[in-house]
Amino acid sequence: MIDSQVIEEIKSRNDIVDVISSYVVLKRAGSNMQGLCPFHSEKSPSFTVFTGTQGYYCFGCGAGGDVITFVRQVENLDYVSSLEFLAKRAGVTIPEDKGRREKSGFDRNRMFEMNRDAARFFRESLFNEQIGGEALSYLKRRGLDAATVKRFGIGYSPNDFSALTKHMRALGYSEEELIAGFLCGRSQKYGTLFDYFRNRVMFPIIDVSGNVIAFGGRVMDDSQPKYLNSSDTPVFKKSRNLFALNFARVACSEELILCEGYMDVIALHAAGFTNAVATLGTAITPEQARIMSRYTKKVLISYDSDAAGQKAANRAIGILGEVGLDVRVLKIKDAKDPDEYIKKFGADSFSNDILAASRGKFEYNMDSVLARHNILIPDEKIKACNELCAMISDIYSSAEREVYISAVSDKLGIPKDSIRADINRILKKKKNDFKKQESQKIIRQSAGFGDRVNPDYAKNIAAAKAEESVLGMLLLYPEHRKSVLEGKCELNEKDFFTEFGKRVFTSLIATAQNGNFETGLLGEFFTPEEQGRIMRMQLSRSQLSDNGADAFNESIRALKRETAFSDSEDSVDNILDIIKNKRNNT
Ligand code: GTP
Ligand code: MN
Repeated sequence: MIDSQVIEEIKSRNDIVDVISSYVVLKRAGSNMQGLCPFHSEKSPSFTVFTGTQGYYCFGCGAGGDVITFVRQVENLDYVSSLEFLAKRAGVTIPEDKGRREKSGFDRNRMFEMNRDAARFFRESLFNEQIGGEALSYLKRRGLDAATVKRFGIGYSPNDFSALTKHMRALGYSEEELIAGFLCGRSQKYGTLFDYFRNRVMFPIIDVSGNVIAFGGRVMDDSQPKYLNSSDTPVFKKSRNLFALNFARVACSEELILCEGYMDVIALHAAGFTNAVATLGTAITPEQARIMSRYTKKVLISYDSDAAGQKAANRAIGILGEVGLDVRVLKIKDAKDPDEYIKKFGADSFSNDILAASRGKFEYNMDSVLARHNILIPDEKIKACNELCAMISDIYSSAEREVYISAVSDKLGIPKDSIRADINRILKKKKNDFKKQESQKIIRQSAGFGDRVNPDYAKNIAAAKAEESVLGMLLLYPEHRKSVLEGKCELNEKDFFTEFGKRVFTSLIATAQNGNFETGLLGEFFTPEEQGRIMRMQLSRSQLSDNGADAFNESIRALKRETAFSDSEDSVDNILDIIKNKRNNT
C-alpha cells in the first residue's frame, strides 16, 4: 500500500486537465471541459472533466473517476503502476516499500530494462561477424543500409537454444522474469530454460516512451513460422501497440501510413516516409484505431495488394472510420507490398503515383462494388445500385451524400432523383429502427438489466436507487460520513441492498476512518468501471439542491424500507416471475 499522503501529493501535482489533454482534445464548457470520450466511439462530446473536483465522467459510456483512474484506463495499467506513471510525470518519488512490488506482481521498469538488455544482446550478435554475418548480409540483400539497421535497433538471435538465456541469467534476471517477458520458455522434457528466438532477424518493438516492450523475429529462409512475435506480457499488449509509432508520432500530424508488415514500415521510413506504422502481426483493433486518432487526422491504408490484404483493408476502413479518422486506401500497383514497390519503382514514384492517387473511402468502396457487378446486365446494375445507396445512407452529411449521389448517377447512368428517393427511403427506415432500438434500450437500462458493475441492481430498483442516494451523499459530504462514523445515525453494511453497494459502503467507511477522505482513495479497491459508477452516484447527487441532514436521513429510511421489503415474500424476483408466467399464458 502506498501512503495516502503520497497519493495526495501525486494527485495534486498532476492536474487532471493537463493529464487528460495529452490524450483528448478538451474544450471549455462552462466551468468544466469537454471532449470526445477516449473509451468509446462517439461523434459528439459526452466526456466531461470537472476542473473543480478533479474528476471525469463520460455521460455516454459511464467511464469516470479521478486522474489515477483515467491513467489506469487509458494506459491499461494496474493501480500501483498508474501511481508510478503519474509520479514519474510530476517528478514525485514514491518511498520504497518492500511489500509493494510483490503485491503488484512485477516491476515494469525492470521488465523494460530486461528487454533493453536483450535487444542489446541481439544487436551485438548481429554485428559479430562470426555469429551474425549471415543475418547482416540478409538485411543488406533486402536493401537495408547500416543507418536503418541502427535506427530500428535491429538485431539477430543466435542459432542456439541457450545463448540469450545464459547471457540474461548472468546479468541477474531470474528464470521467472525471462519467462514472463516472453524471452524464454521452459522445456517440458528437461525442465530447463530455452531461448524462444533462434536464428532470426530481430525487430524490437518500442513504445512511444522509448521502452523496448517486445520483439518480432523473422527467419532468413522459407521456414515456418516466418515471423515469431512476442505474446502479450505484463508490459506488452499486441492489440494496443503499433510498430514504429515511436518514430511516426512526430511526423504524422497530417497523416499516418498504416502497413501490414515490419519490413514495409522499415522500407518506408528508409525512403523518407517516417509517418508509417504497422500492426503487430494481427488485424487492426479498435484500440489501435483510437491510439492513431490521438496522433493524426488521416490514415492511409497501405496493405498488401493481394486479396487477403484488400479484405483486411476493408475491415480497417470500418474500424478507423468509427473513431472519426479520415481513411484512404493506397493502391499498390505492380508490386505485392509497399516494401517491394519502393524497391522496384523508388521513393519518388511512391509519392507521385501512390500517395497522390489515394482515394477516399467512398470512391474506394464504390470501385469495389462496381468491380463485383457487371452493370451491363440490368439485374446486376440494380444490385450494385442498391449496395451503393445503402453505403451513401450511412453518410451523415447531406452535402456529402449529394456529392456521392452524383458520382453513382454518372457511373450507373441512373437519374439522380431516383437514387435520392431510394436513399431517403433507407434513411427513413433507419430512423424508425433506431427509435425502436433506443426505446428498448432505455427500458432495459432503467430496469437495470445487463448491468455488469452492479448485477443486483435490477432485483430491486427502488432499493438500489435509495442505496445510490445514500452513498452519493456519503461520498460528497464529510458531515454525513461523520454522523455514520460516530454512530449518530444508524447505518450498517447489512442495510445495503446490492453486493456492490455493500462494498462501496464498507471501503468508504474504512477509508474515512483513517482520516482525510476523498473519493479517489477508493481507487485501490475498485476497477475503473466500478469507479465510473461511484463517480455517477456522486454526480447525480451533487446535481440535487437538497443534500442536508434531513435528505440524508430520509434516504436511509427509504433504503431500509426497500431492503426490508426485498427480504419479504413479495420480492421483485417473484413479481418478475409472475409477470413472466402471465405473458406465457396469454
Ligand atoms: P517480409 O516477407 O519480410 O517482407 O514480411 P512482411 O513484413 O512483408 O510481412 P507479411 O506481409 O508476410 O506479413 C505481415 C505481418 O504479419 C508481418 O510483419 C508479421 O507481423 C505478421 N506475420 C507474417 N508471417 C507471420 C507468421 O508466420 N506468424 C506470425 N505470428 N506473424 C506473421
Ligand atoms: Mn514484404
